Amino acid sequence: MQIRKSRSKLVLALITLTAIFFESSPLVGQDTGRPWMNPQHAPEERAEMVLKQLTLDEKLALLHGNGMDHNPQWTMPLTPLTNGGAGYVEGVKRLGIPPLIISDAAYGVRDSGINGRYSTAMPSNLGAASSWDPESACAYGEVIGQDLRAQGFDMTLGGGVDLVREPRNGRTFEYTGEDPLLAGTMDGSMMKCEQAQHVVGDIKHYVMNDQETGRFFVNSIISQKDMQESDLLAFHIAIAAADPGAVMCSYNRINGVFGCENPYTLDEVLKKEWGFKGFVISDWTGTHSTIAASAAGLDQEQPMADYFGPKLKEAVEAGKVPVSEIDDHARRVLYAEFLSGVVDNPPQKSVPDVEKGLEVAQHVEEESIVLLKNDHGVLPIDPSRVHSIAMIGGHADVGMISGGGSAQVDPPGGNAIMPAGKGGTHWQEHIWFPTSPLNALRAKLPNTKIVFDPGSDLQSAAALARDSDLAIVFAYQWESEDMDLPGLSLSGNQNDLIEQVTAANPHTIVVLESGTAVTMPWIDKVAGVVEAWYAGSSGHKALASVLVGDVNPSGKLPITFPKSENDLPHASIPPVSAEDHGQPTGNSSTHTSTYTVHYDEGPEVGYKWFEAQHQQPLFAFGFGLSYSSWEYSGLSVDSASKSVRFTVRNTGKRTGTEIAEVYARLPEGTHESSYRRLVGWKRITLQPGDSQTITVPIDSRVLKTFEPADHQWNFEPGNYGVFVGGSSDNTPLTGSLVIR
Ligand code: BGC
Repeated sequence: MQIRKSRSKLVLALITLTAIFFESSPLVGQDTGRPWMNPQHAPEERAEMVLKQLTLDEKLALLHGNGMDHNPQWTMPLTPLTNGGAGYVEGVKRLGIPPLIISDAAYGVRDSGINGRYSTAMPSNLGAASSWDPESACAYGEVIGQDLRAQGFDMTLGGGVDLVREPRNGRTFEYTGEDPLLAGTMDGSMMKCEQAQHVVGDIKHYVMNDQETGRFFVNSIISQKDMQESDLLAFHIAIAAADPGAVMCSYNRINGVFGCENPYTLDEVLKKEWGFKGFVISDWTGTHSTIAASAAGLDQEQPMADYFGPKLKEAVEAGKVPVSEIDDHARRVLYAEFLSGVVDNPPQKSVPDVEKGLEVAQHVEEESIVLLKNDHGVLPIDPSRVHSIAMIGGHADVGMISGGGSAQVDPPGGNAIMPAGKGGTHWQEHIWFPTSPLNALRAKLPNTKIVFDPGSDLQSAAALARDSDLAIVFAYQWESEDMDLPGLSLSGNQNDLIEQVTAANPHTIVVLESGTAVTMPWIDKVAGVVEAWYAGSSGHKALASVLVGDVNPSGKLPITFPKSENDLPHASIPPVSAEDHGQPTGNSSTHTSTYTVHYDEGPEVGYKWFEAQHQQPLFAFGFGLSYSSWEYSGLSVDSASKSVRFTVRNTGKRTGTEIAEVYARLPEGTHESSYRRLVGWKRITLQPGDSQTITVPIDSRVLKTFEPADHQWNFEPGNYGVFVGGSSDNTPLTGSLVIR
């Protein structure tokens, strides 16, 4: 009896195991004539197997888009298959290769409004970079990847990592800051985790796409060495971390050659030096030739087929483009599909996990808010002392602003300050999320009188502030793709408003919702400043938590805030001439624009420039306050392992998180020794009074210098200064690292 029981248990176990095996086995249900469908083969091998089966037409179909939805000037026969997105690339149905169904998704999925769908808006990419937390960047990417799949997309166009070299760039909010290590690490982590949701990942806009003025033709001039040690380095770090299926080449020219037909950046650096195995996708209408672009390493034209459609076929048939080049392009597209798992896990439309998205968006924003000024502990708000609050300006009764252009995410219910019923959003419309800071703060402080004034009438705003214990002015600075800001000053009457309010009540806090740095002529007069960036779908809740102290702020600036635009490497962005405005952006061989930007500052981007120029910024890169205070001690540098060890102590009264930053200076006498560079950091959470000794590895990639003559990265031998502290301009610990 006993034996029979155990035997039947064994049989049951075997049946279950067999069932599990068959359910999960890649071999099940598969046509044995399709060995590439076996996920046990490496993506490279699978791509190669498919490639061998393809006709020339099938290969060519992988190399161009088929129009863009909601854009009548870019319509082709297959455009309806774009699923309401930015692009569509045919798959190979007979072989089980799905099409690429592509959407923009910088901080959430684009065009949800017009498509009748929902997507979470994460905080802006720059905001998220302020957390210096790759784990929260990963959660950010996961939400976007899941939302994309739920909407039926299998490829993202997120991943902006152009260095913030020009803070007036209207797309600064889409990028992850001015430092190659921070920007590359944060962007790479976002995209790695996004691609892990089985969407083809993308890193963009490759490269030197650092302003929007004249964006379709601006010629960015910079030496190879400088470019390698700045913007290219950020891309390399991001690409190494994310291993994305795709890299989007940029609109601009780089040293005279368009980004999407540039043999140096595409072929030599990206593909040969870095060994990138995915495909290069052009920015939308960023392709300008057939033979040159194909030879330079562009793999896929978007969103049309003007150069990589019939013209490419003709060029192949005429022997002007070798079939081996076509094979290389097609292989790369197939590789990206296998790598990201879209072949094995095609997207399935579903209801997005709204609650989870909101939770993650709140967490990311809580880590991203940067406390810039907090005189006499005006924050967090203490309801036992503050009985009345004047909340002023910035539509803070209704919601919070977001960043525009192709990154735009549509809010639930439409634009929060548009007349009811007007759905959908338009390119470069100011879009407000229905995330009311007023409601969120009232929920946190039920016994405090909180009154809102729109701030349009300065006197009425000042009068309300005078009658309140505390005033909070909400100031915003909207920006978007396809424009640059004229300057970093707040727009409209906002500076005057802050001046008037703070004159009426010195207990004034300014909350900034911005996509980049802001100049603050009133800084000495206000008691507090909080940078909330574009705060995403749960921004109001995160902000209220910080204002009342439920969350101890820990974000640090990923960009320098200058005192004035005059302190930047370029006092202004040169205007585009009338002739250049009419410049046809098509064929590169007939292109004549002379619009040029000389990046003579080279690798001295952001804080590096300020240090090299001996200029004090308004707020330094890496700066951010906490409701706690921190003490650093006991630095030891291990030259052999290239790491540093030191102790951080929470000397405040609250539990908090400190971002401990490590900088290094190249040996004296070397060209690059005029500035320090970020070489590592660690986030560390400590209870009041507690301390911890931590080890931070120094990242060699940002310590080496590039030798253009032999295309090598080398260490300059000598003594490197090492600096440790809570901000690029506050490093109490110093030591030295010796490299022989
Ligand atoms: C932008 C890209 C975007 C593409 C597709 C272009 O204008 O520069 O970032 O992905 O459009 O919408």
